[in-house]
Amino acid sequence: MKFLITGGAGFIGSNYLHYVTEKYKEDFFVCLDALTYAGNYHNIEMLEGKENYKFVKGDITDRDFIDALFKSEHFDIVINFAAESHVDNSIKNPAIFLNTNIIGTEVLMDACLKYGIKRFHQISTDEVYGDLPLNRPSLLFHEDTPIKTSSPYSTSKASADLLVMAYHRTYGLPVTISRCSNNYGPYQFPEKLIPVVISKALKNEKIPVYGKGENVRDWIHVHDHNVGVDLIVRMGKVGEIYNLGGHSERTNLELVKLILKELGTSEDLITFVEDRKGHDLRYAIDSSKIEKELGWTREYSFDEGIRKTIDWYFNHQDWIKDIETLEYQKAYQEKKQTSLSKTF
Ligand SMILES: NC(=O)c1ccc[n+]([C@@H]2O[C@H](COP(=O)([O-])OP(=O)(O)OC[C@H]3O[C@@H](n4cnc5c(N)ncnc54)[C@H](O)[C@@H]3O)[C@@H](O)[C@H]2O)c1
Repeated sequence: MKFLITGGAGFIGSNYLHYVTEKYKEDFFVCLDALTYAGNYHNIEMLEGKENYKFVKGDITDRDFIDALFKSEHFDIVINFAAESHVDNSIKNPAIFLNTNIIGTEVLMDACLKYGIKRFHQISTDEVYGDLPLNRPSLLFHEDTPIKTSSPYSTSKASADLLVMAYHRTYGLPVTISRCSNNYGPYQFPEKLIPVVISKALKNEKIPVYGKGENVRDWIHVHDHNVGVDLIVRMGKVGEIYNLGGHSERTNLELVKLILKELGTSEDLITFVEDRKGHDLRYAIDSSKIEKELGWTREYSFDEGIRKTIDWYFNHQDWIKDIETLEYQKAYQEKKQTSLSKTF
């Protein structure tokens, strides 16, 4: 089968490609990425040369480009990881979130309809459900929890989800959606909490924590998320939504303190800053549907996963430095000049 993986140079998409290009030698994976500021060619350059993989630079909102790509490549399956993903950016500039996350999804689905693909899978988020109160720990998000978003980011993702279900009902497009909680692991852009804390701690810099640090997130290792996505795409029921969660709730402050302890750094670095506007209090996911129906299980405990993740960033300080100096933005151009990067 031939897969289109959009957003494959980002955090979750690149981890997905590392996993599936090894596991499924008989399938072929085309990574499509616009290489926005969050796309890092270094995350996937080691996949070049694999028989079952190629990279294409392009934008999911570019209708003509997407049409031409689908026409020439004959995809069977499309998995849409591409998105603007940082909540803080969406508060400053919502427009690009609506364009990429909603219009980009629509452009891809139009091409899926026109060229008759077998499955369109949308990578969504638990943030579409809004948040839960801090004082009722038994409450969880289920697949039928009403959508009730807080930020322009989550609203753009929820809008895309509604559009995906509308394309299924109206046009019969074979779709699935996964809604996952907060991911951690290698290759996460250092604007998100865990890599920010690690990189600042390694440089002995102040670590900003929103409000009192009491917001709760349900952390899942990116590999466990991707195993779930793979199961849904291959075995999931068309028209269904599947939740994926880590069953590992931690307050932001607990998480920051744990990382500092692991790195042997002082908690004095913690600096409380003005809270994020509309900051969701607590996310917690019920993943029992995918566990029962598709046999999904988590391979990583939080303790093991977070330690391995801290080790990874510790051992890849050049990867972080490359981003801080913006060198990473030259990686694709340099590769193109020196090699036979394939075009479609
Ligand atoms: N990170 C999390 O904890 C988390 C949790 C649940 C769901 N998600 C969802 O998973 C998906 C991937 O998230 P991530 O953390 O890897 O994000 P990311 O920001 O690390 O990566 C996004 C990728 O999409 C690419 N991209 C952006 N706009 C594009 C466009 N117009 N055309 C083509 N490519 C484009 C970027 O270049 C980047 O490589 C997103 O849809 C996000 O909403 C993320």
